[in-house]
Amino acid sequence: MGLTLLAGSANLPLARAIARDLGLPLGDRVLDRFPDGELDIRIGRSVRGEDVYIVQPTSPPIEQHLLELLFLSDACRRAGAGRITAIVPYFGYARQDRRARGREPLGARLVADLMKASGIDRVVALDLHTAAIEGCFGSPLEHLSAVPLLADIVRSWTGVGAVIVSPDLGAVKLAERYARILSLPVAIAHKTRVSGSEVSVRSIVGDVGGRAPIVVDDMISTGGTVEAAVKALLDAGCLPDVAVVATHALLVGQAADRLADLPIRRFVSTDSVQAATSAPLHRETVSLVPLLADAIRRLHVNESLADLLASA
Ligand code: R5P
Repeated sequence: MGLTLLAGSANLPLARAIARDLGLPLGDRVLDRFPDGELDIRIGRSVRGEDVYIVQPTSPPIEQHLLELLFLSDACRRAGAGRITAIVPYFGYARQDRRARGREPLGARLVADLMKASGIDRVVALDLHTAAIEGCFGSPLEHLSAVPLLADIVRSWTGVGAVIVSPDLGAVKLAERYARILSLPVAIAHKTRVSGSEVSVRSIVGDVGGRAPIVVDDMISTGGTVEAAVKALLDAGCLPDVAVVATHALLVGQAADRLADLPIRRFVSTDSVQAATSAPLHRETVSLVPLLADAIRRLHVNESLADLLASA
C-alpha cells in the first residue's frame, strides 16, 4: 500500500511540515464551496488501495473543519482507499465526553461516530481532555501525548523552587505526569465554572507560597481557567513568576489579551492548532511535526506506537 497524505484547511503549515518530514508531497485536493456555501471537495489523484492519512485538527471554526475532514474521508473511501487514518492533533468537542446535566448531547461520542461513518478507520489524537474519551470511539484511537516534548522545554529553565499547578480537578492526572517527569511537587486549584468564559477558583490545595508556579492544562480556550488560577495563586503567595504550559492554545476571543495582563513569564504550547492571534503573548511553540510524522511512519508499516501514547 502506498502512503497518501492529505489535509483539510485547519492547519496547513503543520500538514506541509509533516509532508516535508516524510519526504512526500501533500496530496492534491480541491477544497472549495458552492455558491450556497456547501462544501465542494475533490481528491486530485487516485487513492485506490492507498494508506491515506488526513491531517485536520477540528479547531475553530469547528463545524467547518470537522465537515472538511468527514468529506475528505468519504471521498477517499468512495474512491477505494485501502485504509484511512485521521490525524486530529486537536479534537474539538473532547470536553463533551460526558453529560454534565440532563437533556445534553454527548458531543464527543457523536463526533467520533461521524468520523467512523465517514470511513475513517483509525483516529490519531493528542492530549485529549480525558483518557476515558476512548470509550466514545467505536473505531481504534491512538491517543498520543506531547507532554514529554513540553516537559523537555520546561526542564531547560525550571528550578527546584517551582510547583506544577493543575488549574482544576480535571487536570490533576496531567499535572501529576508533568510533576513525575520534572520531579516537582503538585498543587491544585479548586475551580468552579460560572459560564463558558468565566470560572472562579475557591481555593488552592498544596504549598505554593514563595514558589514559581507552572500551570499545566490540556487546552486554553478563553483563558478564563488560567486567569482564575493565576489570580488565586498570587493571592496564596506564589512568586509573580508564572509559566503556563498547554498542548492546545486555542486562544479564542480576548484570551491572549487576558493572559498578557497577568505575570506570565513563559507560555509554552504546541502547533496543534494554527495560531489565531497576534496579541502580545510571548509564546514558545513546540512543533508536533517529528511526533506526528513518526506516528504516521510507524502506522504505515504496522509498528508499535506504545512509547508515543498518552498512557506511556
Ligand atoms: C477544562 O476542563 C479544560 O481542561 C480547560 O481547563 C478549559 O477548557 C480551558 O478553557 P478556558 O481557557 O476557556 O477556561
